[in-house]
Amino acid sequence: MNTSCRIQLIGAACGLGAPDPLCAEGPERVRSRLIARGRLRETLAWRETIRVDASDASDADLRAFARKLGSAVSAVCAADQRFVVLGGDHSCAVGTWSGAAEALAARGPLGLIWIDAHMDAHTPRTSPSGNRHGMPLATLLGYGDDGARPAVLPQHLCLIGVRAFEVEEEQLLRRLGVRIYRSDEVLARGIDSIMEEALQRATSGTAGFGLSIDLDAVDPEQAPAVTTPVPNGIGAQALLNALARAVDEPALIGVEIAEYNPHRDREARTGALIEALIDTIADASAASDSCMSLEQRYCARNYAPLPVVLTRGQGVHVWDRAGRRYIDMMSAYSAVSLGHAHPRLVQALSEQARRLGVVSRAYYSDRLGPLARRLCELTGFDRMLPMNTGAEAVETALKAARKWAYTVKGVAEDRAQIIHCAGNFHGRTIAVIGMSSEAQYRHGFGPFAPGFVAVPYGDAAALERAITPDTAAFLVEPIQGEGGIVLPPPGYLAECARLCREHRVLLLCDEVQTGLGRTGSLLACRHERVQPDGIMLGKALGGGLLPISAFLAREELMNVFTPGDHGSTFGGNPLACAVALETLDILVEGGWIEHAAFFGDYLLHRLQVLRGPLVRAIRGRGLFVGVELEPGRVGARRLCEILLRHGILTKDTHETVLRFAPPLIITREQIDEAVLAIARAFDQAAALPPDDEGPGRRRLAG
Ligand SMILES: Cc1ncc(COP(=O)(O)O)c(C=O)c1O
Repeated sequence: MNTSCRIQLIGAACGLGAPDPLCAEGPERVRSRLIARGRLRETLAWRETIRVDASDASDADLRAFARKLGSAVSAVCAADQRFVVLGGDHSCAVGTWSGAAEALAARGPLGLIWIDAHMDAHTPRTSPSGNRHGMPLATLLGYGDDGARPAVLPQHLCLIGVRAFEVEEEQLLRRLGVRIYRSDEVLARGIDSIMEEALQRATSGTAGFGLSIDLDAVDPEQAPAVTTPVPNGIGAQALLNALARAVDEPALIGVEIAEYNPHRDREARTGALIEALIDTIADASAASDSCMSLEQRYCARNYAPLPVVLTRGQGVHVWDRAGRRYIDMMSAYSAVSLGHAHPRLVQALSEQARRLGVVSRAYYSDRLGPLARRLCELTGFDRMLPMNTGAEAVETALKAARKWAYTVKGVAEDRAQIIHCAGNFHGRTIAVIGMSSEAQYRHGFGPFAPGFVAVPYGDAAALERAITPDTAAFLVEPIQGEGGIVLPPPGYLAECARLCREHRVLLLCDEVQTGLGRTGSLLACRHERVQPDGIMLGKALGGGLLPISAFLAREELMNVFTPGDHGSTFGGNPLACAVALETLDILVEGGWIEHAAFFGDYLLHRLQVLRGPLVRAIRGRGLFVGVELEPGRVGARRLCEILLRHGILTKDTHETVLRFAPPLIITREQIDEAVLAIARAFDQAAALPPDDEGPGRRRLAG
């Protein structure tokens, strides 16, 4: 047994519920085929075969069989691997899913998608045959005769492909609220859309989910070797497609394939289908898992990425490992404003990398000066201080403001105060999260730096009330990005600027996300003709290739810094400066700022037209658009996952807001294509039951 393989196969050699016990021989037949094909290496391992002899097994033997199977499944889950249980008849499901539920119990309930021609849902009271092993689903729901706790809750369960059942079974399941997709509905609507809904149910509010496939769900023409064939089943290819889709979900813990009777497989068609199912699980798991699971295994859990592994980008598009194309409506939190792999930026990067990369500020370089001049000329400031990340630029501004308060304004030592806004996002350093009003960002990270005062965003009168003689600066985002694309009332920034001037308070605008054309103006503060005392830039300045940020300020403020006061090893390195210079040239010469203004209005208008029942409000400026969702319907994270399947990359912010901030170079046709896909995704989501945002579905900002 190779216990390190990602997929662990477990044989469950039973034939307890089926009229023909010969399907107990199914697992070994599949195993021999896999060995003959050399499949049992690297990704797939045969863990063990668990047996029970139907002919003379006592009740105690049967319970022991289920327990043994359950522990094997549980052990695979505990090792963060996926299991494939090969029955045997479908009675093995009791062991499989009880074990899975037990393994997940500490994290949340189990979701289950049950694909079957039958309902397997008689209770001991309603069973016409009296064979209680033929009713594994009722047992899993807590209606068996063993009094065991339910392994699966009805709201996390759905049945797909059923077409042969008795009225009592249907009554029980409907009464419990299990979603049943009969085979005629599957054939009419297509398996893809059914699978999306089933996945929604099986993953919402659960800790993981499984797929239980009874092969008699498939049309007997294509899978004849089952014990109880029923005409008009699902096509074999449709089943493979549905499985491939489910395997893409990182929350999938395992699959069960039951009811194979090798004695009826004269043309080896059913055996071939089982192998194709196993190949699908193994190949899809190996491809995306190696990347996702490496991140999950070795990275700190400070992000909850959407389930896609991206490998390539060009312009507004990115591609995943399977070659699927997506429109990038996120632009790495606005860092990729000129699109992916812009040829001029790639050239500037590689030429500079060949010439000179990093020298530190211990020396002059031939790249920093030209970038500083260009930035100052464009923005109207006197000096710039280069850093690397947005948060560092904010920290730089805070330090500058405090020193200005002491050395220029005359505030007594250690008394300076900085006013900031509720709902802000300025990064993740200790000083910066001390300003956050988001409980999760702060919790567990205190104590925080003193000297910060919060006021409501968009309320200039509140700012005036908060100003004291010790106030050094007012720090504000012209539009709150991570806060949910929140636009302040018109005139707010201009009024704040007036108040700051009147009270000799510095106005510091965080343009890390809104700057460099994102809102249809070089700087968002220019929409109100405001020239602050200092601004912070970041993200897009690096051309989507590397990190570089800057604090820009007027002379009086920046002059507080003397050598040794502040710095960064990588800040202003020639490589980043060369790319930033080229970025600014492309942005201005290409007319991309005006383009963002025009097509931002267009995108906003197109989204406003489609609206629909899920949408509460749509707002934005330039190519910085937020769609606020109605609470209690489909959560923003879930909608991002659905959009992903429609080829749209975006990200939720503030639990109920979706952001649409594509590269500024997006064309009208690309916006049209994106809006069409968004409309389809919204339609699909609107048909879903209300979301129940489960554990681990957290918003994490950039
Ligand atoms: C307005 C604003 N400021 C600062 C930051 C922090 O930037 P970074 O993640 O590069 O530190 C962000 C990031 O989203 C931001 O939106």
